[in-house]
Formats: sequence, structure tokens, C-alpha cells
Amino acid sequence: MSELRHLINITDLSVEEIAHLIDVADDIIEHPEAYQDICAHKKLATLFFEPSTRTRLSFTAAMMELGGNVLGFDQAASSSTAKGESVSDTIIMASCYADIIAMRHPKEGAPFVAAKHSSVPVINAGDGGHFHPTQTLTDLMTIHRKRGELGNLTIGLCGDLKFGRTVHSLIEAMIRYDNVRFIMISPEELDLPSYNKETLDAKGIEWKEVRSLEEAMPELDVLYMTRVQKERFFNEEDYIRLKDSFILRRNMLETAKEDMIVMHPLPRVNEISLDVDEDPRAAYFFQALMGKYIRMALILFMLGIR
Ligand code: CP
Repeated sequence: MSELRHLINITDLSVEEIAHLIDVADDIIEHPEAYQDICAHKKLATLFFEPSTRTRLSFTAAMMELGGNVLGFDQAASSSTAKGESVSDTIIMASCYADIIAMRHPKEGAPFVAAKHSSVPVINAGDGGHFHPTQTLTDLMTIHRKRGELGNLTIGLCGDLKFGRTVHSLIEAMIRYDNVRFIMISPEELDLPSYNKETLDAKGIEWKEVRSLEEAMPELDVLYMTRVQKERFFNEEDYIRLKDSFILRRNMLETAKEDMIVMHPLPRVNEISLDVDEDPRAAYFFQALMGKYIRMALILFMLGIR
């Protein structure tokens, strides 16, 4: 019997496995008909204890395009969590009904607990301010398709680097590729957590902090914008004060490289003005589309199909 795999952190996948997933996702884009029935009679449970548009819908679309079925809930209130059921009992139940589980939860570590109790693969679809590994796969696929490689990049991470789980996962992923450097662009109160900075230093990765997007712009190959994470703040006053710290406007791209790409995990609130959407460097809607293909490849991988 093959070993049961879970995806809790992006580092649960090796660089070689990520390259394989990107290859499969590329093949799915080229030959969708070859995959349309491959998950027939398989079921994906989407257990979302926190709101989502892209992650839940792209997982759902991914399983449907593989010929499988999807069951689940999109808020804790419509599950027996509302009656006091624990995460571990919920997962034991879901693994009786489904072949694979994608789970989002507001508490850091909840998918790790879920994996301990599951008899089927568990995919972390975002846990609090901690990790979001399938967003990172989406980001890597986007960078690979737009830039042709995952190394030799200067990446600007802008916005809420403290609570932004997509940023934390992306850093963990990118430090495994050659010649990647980072420029952190955030208000001081939303700086990258010290444990991420310690990881960068321990690995000898070049990084710096700046307080202005304009200062970083000419150096960047990838600009990764993020939303200030309202749901992680303890008081609304702080959120209101910080939420518009960085707003990317089209005229600010005048000093950017021609082949830079602008990414954002979405949803955006106010941090990218609408006129940027028309710039050829805007890659965030393409990025959301890539999320479906890479999740198709991931479902196949986790189920041990092909
Ligand atoms: N990027 C992302 O996780 O979006 P959703 O919250 O809409 O799933």
C-alpha cells in the first residue's frame, strides 16, 4: 500500500515534485480531453470553515474537470461545528465519505490536526495567518509560465507581510531556487515575522526592507501585492489606519521593467487600482486561472493517479 500523503506546508513537496505538478498542469492545459474522466467515481470534500471564492471554486472546478464529484460545506455555520463538533471528528466523518479533503480553517495548525485523524489525503487550503500551500503552487505555476523559470528573480512582497499566509508560503517555496532575492515592502507594523527573517538569514538569502513601492519598483521581476488581512486584526482602528498603506497605480509602473509581472493572490480590496488591470504586466487574473490547473495536477498526485 502506498504511503498516505498530506499537503500542510509547501515544503511537504520536494522541488522535483513541484516541477512534476507544473509539467502535469501544463499538459492538462494542452490536452484537457485526456483528463476529463480520470477521477470518475472519486470524491473531493471541500471543508471551508472560512470564506473563499478562488480556492474553493477552483478546487471544485478542478475535480469536476477531472470527472470526479465534490461535496462539502462553505462555512462552519452550516456544518455540525455549529453544534460543537471538533475538527478531528469532522475529519473522521469526511474521510468516510470522500477520497480526498481540501480544508480551510481560521486556526493555524487545524489542517495538521485534521491530517492526524484522516484516512484520506488532506490538503491545507489556508490556515489562519500560517500557510496556503495551494496558493503557492498557483503562484509558482504563474511565475513559471510567465517567466520560464523559478530562479534568477528579484521578488517584491508588498502589503501585509505579517498576517499574509500566501507570503509566508511563497517565501518557503522560493528559497529553494537559485539566485532569488526579496524586497519586503510594508508598513513597520505589518513587517514580515521574525521567524521568516531568521529563515532567510540562515539560508543566506539576500533580502532587504523598504517603506516605499517606488524605491523597489525598478529592481523587481515579480511584484507580489497583498491585501491587509482585516480578519486577523484585533481592533478595527488599526486596520483602518493601515489598510491603504500601499496602493499600486498604473503610473507607478513607469519605472518597472517591461517584463515584470504583477501578482496578487486576490481578493483585492483597494491595493491595486483598476487601471492596472489593463497593463500587460498584470498577471493576477491569469494567476487565479492557473490555480485550477495546478489543483487538478495536485488532486491526481495526492490520489496517486498517473
Ligand atoms: N487566494 C485565495 O485564497 O482566495 P480565496 O480566499 O477567495 O480562496
